[in-house]
Formats: sequence, C-alpha cells, structure tokens
Amino acid sequence: MPYAYYVTTKEILENARENNYAVCAFNAENLEMVQAIVWGAEEMRAPVIIQTTPSTIKYADCEYFYAIAHTAAEKAQIIVALHLDHGSSFALVCKAVRAGYSSVMIDGSQKPFEENIKITQKVVELAHSVNIPVEAELGKVGGKEDDMESDGDVYTNPEDAVEFVKQTDINSLAIGIGTAHGLYKVPPKLDLDRLSQIKKVVDVPLVLHGATGLSDEVIKECVKRGINKINFATELRLTYTNAVREKLNSDEKIIDVKVYSDYARNCVKELVKSKIMLSGSSGRI
Ligand code: 13P
Ligand code: ZN
Repeated sequence: MPYAYYVTTKEILENARENNYAVCAFNAENLEMVQAIVWGAEEMRAPVIIQTTPSTIKYADCEYFYAIAHTAAEKAQIIVALHLDHGSSFALVCKAVRAGYSSVMIDGSQKPFEENIKITQKVVELAHSVNIPVEAELGKVGGKEDDMESDGDVYTNPEDAVEFVKQTDINSLAIGIGTAHGLYKVPPKLDLDRLSQIKKVVDVPLVLHGATGLSDEVIKECVKRGINKINFATELRLTYTNAVREKLNSDEKIIDVKVYSDYARNCVKELVKSKIMLSGSSGRI
C-alpha cells in the first residue's frame, strides 16, 4: 500500500478484499479513544478506521473529531480513515464530508427496499462527487445503536444485495446475518452460510456490524468467509468506562484527570490490539 497517513475507506477496504482480510473499525467518543485506536493500530502495523455515530457527533461535533483523528493519523506511521457510522440523514452526511471525514455510511436499513435505495443513491451522488466512499446497509443489525432500534427480519437476501449494490454504486455493504448492537444476552447464532452466499455474488467489501461479544472463533470465521470491515463500539465504551471506574475506586484522592484517562486509554489500546489480531490486518503496513 502506498504510504499516505489519512486515506479513504475505499483504499483500505479494497486492499482488504483483494487480500482476504478484514480491517477493524472502532467507535471513538473522545480524544483518548482516538489515540488508543491509532496507537494500538500503529503497534500492530495495521490500517485502521475510526468512526463516530450521530450521537457522538452531537456530543462533540464533526470538526473536533476530524481534527483529533487527522492529527493522530499524521503522527502515526500507519494509514487511518475517519468514517461516519450509521449516518442517519443526508444533512449529516454533508456535515461530515464538509468537516473532512474520509468515509460515510448512510443507514437506510430501517426503510423499505426502494426507499433505502433512493436515500443511498442521493448520498452516493454527493459523496462520490468529492471522492468519498459510501457504506450502506441492507438487512438489519439487531439491537440498539444510537437512536435506531431494529426488530423483525434481520437477514440480508443475497439477490436483493446484488440489486442494491448495482442500483446504488456503493463502495461497501453492511449485511444482516444475525449480529446485534450492544451486549448479547446469549451468544448469537450467525447465519454463516448466508455470508458465504452473499460473498459469492456481491463484488464490494462486506461489513459486519455488532461484533462486540462475538467469540474470537466466530470473528475469524466471518473474516475467512469474506468480511472486510468489522465494527466494534460497545466493547470500547465498556472497557474505557470500567477502567475509569476501577481507577477512581482504587484511590479516592485522585483528582488529576490525566491519571484515570491515561489508564483507560491504555486499556482500550490493548483491546484494540487484540481485535486487530483477529482481523488479519496486522503487519499490512
Ligand atoms: P457493537 O460494538 O455494539 O457490537 O456494534 C458495533 C457497531 O456495529 C457500530 O456500528
Ligand atoms: Zn453498527
């Protein structure tokens, strides 16, 4: 891969597709989490995707995340992309692109098929005009992510997926094979054969959402069967928050924010490294 520190997910994911591995996409909520992600990836010599959801952007705005992610990327010897996760509207996509995000997702998965195609086409037209790749979703990821909650049939139909990609010209496709956002009450049973079928007929990188709580074996099997991007959010939030709690509980005299933030940052960095290990993306740079 040619070296340029801040890239689009198109460059990252096409390389992953050609060489049969996956790249991890981690959700960040603050400066420390962005650093943990980039530093962890740098130690693993892996390309990495930082992503933020609409509620995270509401908390701190796209411009802050762009500045932090871009700076972290500039200081590291790897390639980094900044992606809008579960983009909920055309307006939010525009905002992220304007701020400098190098990748966007439009999530029309809750809409009927034709409407999902329509909103995705509109986003693709805008994003491609400035060379920004687009991820879209067909089928559903269960559970709750941000303000979106899904129920009902969650599985992606392979023929619909072919039609969806053809009509929208998207760069990557998030599919429903039985994963869900948040923590699983019981281990999920994924439809891995469906993943293999979709992989056979769809010619863009495939994205797995809801990877928190999946076993290492299942993650590796999903990569083997053709997943090229794996999303982790809940596990990072949990690790960060538990670390802060643990540190503060250990000594009630702590008042220096840096003490518990540094500890939490390190814990997230170790988590990031362990997930990269499973994805097959380590040592690619
Ligand atoms: P979880 O970490 O909640 O499993 O989901 C990650 C994700 O899909 C973010 O878009
Ligand atoms: Zn998701």
